[in-house]
Amino acid sequence: MLAHRHADACAVLTDPGFSREAATELRMTSRSKESLALNVVDPPVHTRRRQLVAHAFTARQAGLARPATERLAGELIGAMVRKGPPAELVADFALPLTMGVIGGILGVPAPEQRRLHPWVEAMMSTTAYSPEEIAAAHKGVHGYFAGLLDAATDGLPGELAEHVRQGTLGRDEAVHLVSGLFIAGYETTGNQLGMCVLALLRHPLLPKRLRSDPAATPQAVEELLRYTSLNATGGVAHVALEDRPVGGTVVRAGQVVVPVTDGANRDPDVFDEPDLLDIDRPHNPHLSFGRGRHMCLGAGLARMELQVALDMLVAELPGLELAVPEDTLGWREGMYVRGLLELPVLW
Ligand code: HEM
Repeated sequence: MLAHRHADACAVLTDPGFSREAATELRMTSRSKESLALNVVDPPVHTRRRQLVAHAFTARQAGLARPATERLAGELIGAMVRKGPPAELVADFALPLTMGVIGGILGVPAPEQRRLHPWVEAMMSTTAYSPEEIAAAHKGVHGYFAGLLDAATDGLPGELAEHVRQGTLGRDEAVHLVSGLFIAGYETTGNQLGMCVLALLRHPLLPKRLRSDPAATPQAVEELLRYTSLNATGGVAHVALEDRPVGGTVVRAGQVVVPVTDGANRDPDVFDEPDLLDIDRPHNPHLSFGRGRHMCLGAGLARMELQVALDMLVAELPGLELAVPEDTLGWREGMYVRGLLELPVLW
């Protein structure tokens, strides 16, 4: 069953009568339950793990990461300007920026971020890679983060390593938590940023508005999050543990329901003219970061990164436009997260 109305998607996401763990037992995802330390586990394991890392991703921590994010965005834009147009915004900006931010928080140096990237692509695929390639990618990424934890003395990895030494966290759990944070930290944000820029380029008045009125950037980011569809698979499968009411019907115990958050983001009962990109929407309760106990841990960090990136792009690359016809742009296929393969731009 698909829950695509806003109220129904929220009902599924916030109802403890649904289990994600039970859905992975049905092998409805190519990612293993073990390697997704937060996304597909239920309480009490989910609660215990999330509490161990949540303090590193508060709104305050996101604010503290802003200056370094601005510095990195400035360096990347500076390099594009020195080279001159055209630039490829995915490889030259969106990926190195978002990898750099989470890599900075977790202590993963830039060359290692780039080395891990092809493995992350395989891990985050639905059909684009073979089971053998996906297994090899898990091994490579987990091997790297096991080494990082063994050597960690400070920051969040140092804290997790200490929990392992004290026996309050399993070693594999810690490896999966920290590698999951790295992956969740840049894969979504990097692809989201590319799609946000494309949406801006399709609405040329918007970059002009943001340049003259940077105070509008946070609400523009919220609307771009609502308007662009990042989730290529619809949503996370949930299994009803008992008969549960959803949207005037009953999901029977054992049945599977998927909350389709991108559909919910265009529910006309909640959003006037839902197909319109309107950054002045007075009320925007989008579900792009989810809802309930699994709501995106990095939402504050992601918002900050998107705001910094869009502010700096419109300010420093005036006249930004696509360098190729839009219908020649390639899209990722066979992946959980939608995104552009390349975004060539001129300014
Ligand atoms: C624009 C960028 C991002 C988007 C759109 C996004 C979206 C989401 C969504 C929809 C979920 C799942 C909600 C669910 O399963 O019901 C999620 C979970 C998660 N996100 Fe993000 N995310 C973004 C960036 C980040 C960043 C920067 C981090 C950094 C750590 C992060 C870490 C996580 C984690 C750890 C989870 C799992 C939470 C849990 O299951 O308890 N995300 N995100």
